[in-house]
Amino acid sequence: TEADQSGVWRFREMLHILDDEANIVSLREGNTPLYELRRVAESTGIEHVFAKHQGMNPTGSFKDAGMTTALSVAHELGFDWVACASTGNTSAAMSAYAARAGMRSLVLIPQGKIAWGKLSQAMDYGALTLQLRTDFDGCVRVLNEVVKRAPVYLLNSVNPYRLEGQKTPALEIAETFDWEVPDHLIVPGGNLANSSALGKAFLEMKHLGLVTKLPKISVIQAEGANPLYRSLLSNSGETLEPVEAHTRASAIRIGNPASWKKAVRVIQQTGGYCEQVSEAEIALAKAEIGAEGIGCEPASAVTLAGLKKLIQQGKVQSNEKVVLLLTGHTLKDSDYTIAYHRGDLLKEGEIKDLRPEIELTRRNA
Ligand code: F0G
Repeated sequence: TEADQSGVWRFREMLHILDDEANIVSLREGNTPLYELRRVAESTGIEHVFAKHQGMNPTGSFKDAGMTTALSVAHELGFDWVACASTGNTSAAMSAYAARAGMRSLVLIPQGKIAWGKLSQAMDYGALTLQLRTDFDGCVRVLNEVVKRAPVYLLNSVNPYRLEGQKTPALEIAETFDWEVPDHLIVPGGNLANSSALGKAFLEMKHLGLVTKLPKISVIQAEGANPLYRSLLSNSGETLEPVEAHTRASAIRIGNPASWKKAVRVIQQTGGYCEQVSEAEIALAKAEIGAEGIGCEPASAVTLAGLKKLIQQGKVQSNEKVVLLLTGHTLKDSDYTIAYHRGDLLKEGEIKDLRPEIELTRRNA
């Protein structure tokens, strides 16, 4: 079965969530590649930089690792409908896994604010897809009303079973390095479920004695969608003030993140950092990851942009081992890539800093 080939269910002893494994809904997710980024190593002066590419999952994003677990629970509980609000990747993953299980899915997305690749996936997998005239945070509010009134299983990232599945890339990383964890793990921050889940995994591994130390887990946000960054800067993560979010990295255009408290704890317990990066820094970093022959969507590229900042600030040393968590496949948002290489991102005037560097990396001018 697919479950036997799944990189998530391989770690089932760490995920006590199902009564009967016959209920597993799997698309053979996980077991994603870890690439060494040699050009990035050269340009940053960090000897060993790796990319754990969660975009190489069946629906092209890290969401699959958590969707196989949560959807299996929904299936076991006997629900006919599942639902989520999404910036695109969650909805793509949910629709695919629901279709495999013979369930229906309801997707609420912010109109005009998600990448076409992701919208097309939800349609292809047969979801009832509603674009609402609001942002992601508005879609979450509407969905919370819907689930109160209808027998629909909620698959937003507050769902604890999603977090359980999203722990598994951390196990894969530790396993790849023979249980000697890297010094740094750098992840994008949107709704902050991913950083929370990976942190939980490393803490559990340490508790079980599988690893002896923790990687410093750092969370990187886009400048225009930076509520966690602001919170840590102004009051050490005691409270979080929602912001109105704007960034071309539409996956992380989130102003009121659900899992911020967990993410604060993970950063503090692992000794990691939170940084923000500009639109230009994201664009340049994305082109550099593309130039390695790997590629990713804009939201994933914040990790490399963030690494550069942490190096400048002396928070990452040249002999330390760094893993960037790439969350989505480059084909998710091909419009962005084309706009970059045609120079349209520059023309629109949103991107002013780093202009010369960006000109150098454009390859189809
Ligand atoms: N990267 C990508 C490609 C994403 O799709 C998301 C979140 C994130 C990073 C941020 O992860 O929310 O766990 O901090 N996408 C969600 C969605 C919100 O609806 O697809 P996070």
